[in-house]
Amino acid sequence: MRSILILNPKGGCGKTTLATNIAGWFAMQGKKVSLADCDPQGSSTDWLAARPDYLAKIELAAMHSNELEINRDTEILVIDSPAAIHDNKLVSITRAAQTIIMPMMPSAIDVRAAERFLRELIEKRREINRKVKLATVANRVREDTLSGVKLEYYLETLKLPNGSKVPYMTMLRASQNYVHAAEKGMTIFELAPSKTVYDREQWMPLLAWLSSARSIPSIT
Ligand SMILES: Nc1ncnc2c1ncn2[C@@H]1O[C@H](COP(=O)(O)OP(=O)(O)OP(=O)(O)O)[C@@H](O)[C@H]1O
Ligand SMILES: [Mg+2]
Repeated sequence: MRSILILNPKGGCGKTTLATNIAGWFAMQGKKVSLADCDPQGSSTDWLAARPDYLAKIELAAMHSNELEINRDTEILVIDSPAAIHDNKLVSITRAAQTIIMPMMPSAIDVRAAERFLRELIEKRREINRKVKLATVANRVREDTLSGVKLEYYLETLKLPNGSKVPYMTMLRASQNYVHAAEKGMTIFELAPSKTVYDREQWMPLLAWLSSARSIPSIT
């Protein structure tokens, strides 16, 4: 089973937006997808509850006393995580993942928080899956803004404290399409193509990476 975790302890950076859109995209490709909502706020659960029956089906992987109950035939597990996740909780949620996507918004505060978080992740590397593949996504970027350019530069050159480069996947613009889709339990890929052409294009590098072996840890 393929497992993809969306992680960043900073609140509101787009974890649920990425988790739901990734889950929906794989479901649209005919995959059996489960969406695990590890956030007590239950935003992904609410999104699934609002999802129309005629769209590609996604199962909810429920949390029971810190254990995920995952449908046996799941091919792709997408995990939405809560804000402010640290220490033991961070270790246990990260252990389940082959791939981590870290969304980031263009703000100096978010960048500093991300740096602290990456340090924590490296410190805990012994306890988690050491080969886990990590990548970043710039989210909710207002085009042609200095803060957007700065964030892209930051992510393009981002290295872990141990010196290894963190792949930067793509920039997702700030768009009401995400808000409208979220309200209806949909993904941007299920909204009118004419309105979402640009957003879909921005997603392609991330979806290509997630569909390739490059985002899966090697067995050796
Ligand atoms: N690219 C975007 N353009 C416009 N709005 C966005 C974008 N990404 C996310 N949003 C909106 O920003 C808000 C926060 O996003 P989201 O819920 O995905 O963040 P989160 O990291 O899951 O938050 P939390 O830490 O509270 O779980 C939501 O209302 C969402 O619809
Ligand atoms: Mg969320």
